[in-house]
Amino acid sequence: MPNAFFDTVRMETTSTADLLVRNIGQLVTVHDPELDGAGPRRRAGMSSLGAFTHAAVAVAGGSILAAGPEAEVLARVDVSAAETVDAGGAAVIPGFVDPHTHTVFGKTRQDEYERRIKGETYLEIAAAGGGIHASVRDLRDRSEEELTDLAVTRLQQMLAQGTTTVEIKSGYGLSLDDEVKMLRAATRAADTVGLRSVRTCLAAHEMPAEFKEDRQAYVRLITEEILPLVAREGLAHRCDVFCEPTVFNLEESVVILSRARDLGLGLTVHADELAAFGGAVLAARMGAQSADHLIRIDADGRAALADSNTVATLLPGTVFTLGLRDYAPARAMVDQGCAVALASDFNPGSCPINSLPLIMAIACTQMRMTPAESLVGATLNAAWALGLQETVGSLAPGKAADFLVLDGPDYRLVPYHAGHNPVAEVYLGGQRVFPQKITK
Ligand code: NIG
Ligand code: FE
Repeated sequence: MPNAFFDTVRMETTSTADLLVRNIGQLVTVHDPELDGAGPRRRAGMSSLGAFTHAAVAVAGGSILAAGPEAEVLARVDVSAAETVDAGGAAVIPGFVDPHTHTVFGKTRQDEYERRIKGETYLEIAAAGGGIHASVRDLRDRSEEELTDLAVTRLQQMLAQGTTTVEIKSGYGLSLDDEVKMLRAATRAADTVGLRSVRTCLAAHEMPAEFKEDRQAYVRLITEEILPLVAREGLAHRCDVFCEPTVFNLEESVVILSRARDLGLGLTVHADELAAFGGAVLAARMGAQSADHLIRIDADGRAALADSNTVATLLPGTVFTLGLRDYAPARAMVDQGCAVALASDFNPGSCPINSLPLIMAIACTQMRMTPAESLVGATLNAAWALGLQETVGSLAPGKAADFLVLDGPDYRLVPYHAGHNPVAEVYLGGQRVFPQKITK
């Protein structure tokens, strides 16, 4: 299908490029005109990369005009007025989409990291007042400005490692004012760095200590005050629930997610991480955009996801950081037809990793995803997980010109060279945003 990409080039809109990236040794568009538009990628579709050698990308007004073999791009697009970038034979891939992060927090929790290495478990530390509760106490004492500044630094690190779209959750506030403070900080930080962002209200991340004796009162606070406010003010696009036996049970999760759906918010669920609890089945049944974690997903959960457009977002950096043995059964899930995406789960407790290249490496070696599947998981399927599949996640004509120039000639170097940042340049909306241009 060497020329199929031209089928969808929007020549009628414009054929004049303002940016041309040429001399691309390997262009991976992650666009397949025969598959895209028909739902997230599954099975063999997760290996379809839309790859070309001797390639070029033409951009107009921040969007992809054409991406394919250089000779064909040059024959069809007017590049006479375009700024030209020579990729020097390097690979070019779509910017990464990180569909699950907890980027807004105060202090880091390396003390717990050390305690776990010495033998305590995540749940034991949480029961002793650590874990999410420790981050909640800390965050409530901090100002929106302080949280914004901390998040800006973290988002700059993510951008430098190729993330161009990021999801950011609340969930360390657990009160109306503190959840709002987190979502405002998330919005301001993403805008400051220039990243595309999706914000998710995770007020149902944990039962606040002051509501321990009256759980229903906290569920009411979420459904009657927090969700209506964040939806009305556009502070969040989606709602998430940590649905686990020790956190929010299935009935509470349904109440919260139903209210969010009525308010027009997208849905996602922290599901089947600690126990096979029915979270994935619930997510699929409620039409959630994604079910996340899924370390313990059972056959019913896998079948429910395979049968729906709810993306199975896997977060192997959490298993890695916690030093656990069991990863989500990614290989079985892909083979069974689940649409698998990858995310960092970047947070101060279970996963301080904010590098999607490293997450891809862990996905390949520990979950037996192929490099191609890991790339689709961190780009197009991740965009589906956020409902942004029309805008980002692949270099299809008309989508945002968010792409990465790597420091080598082959996309497989991304997971292969674990621990190294393989990203030489980041373009967002056709503008180079990393390394930043020095203006004298
Ligand atoms: O996604 N699963 C729940 N929440 C986070 C952990 C947050 C924390 O430990 O602070 C997660 O892994
Ligand atoms: Fe999480």
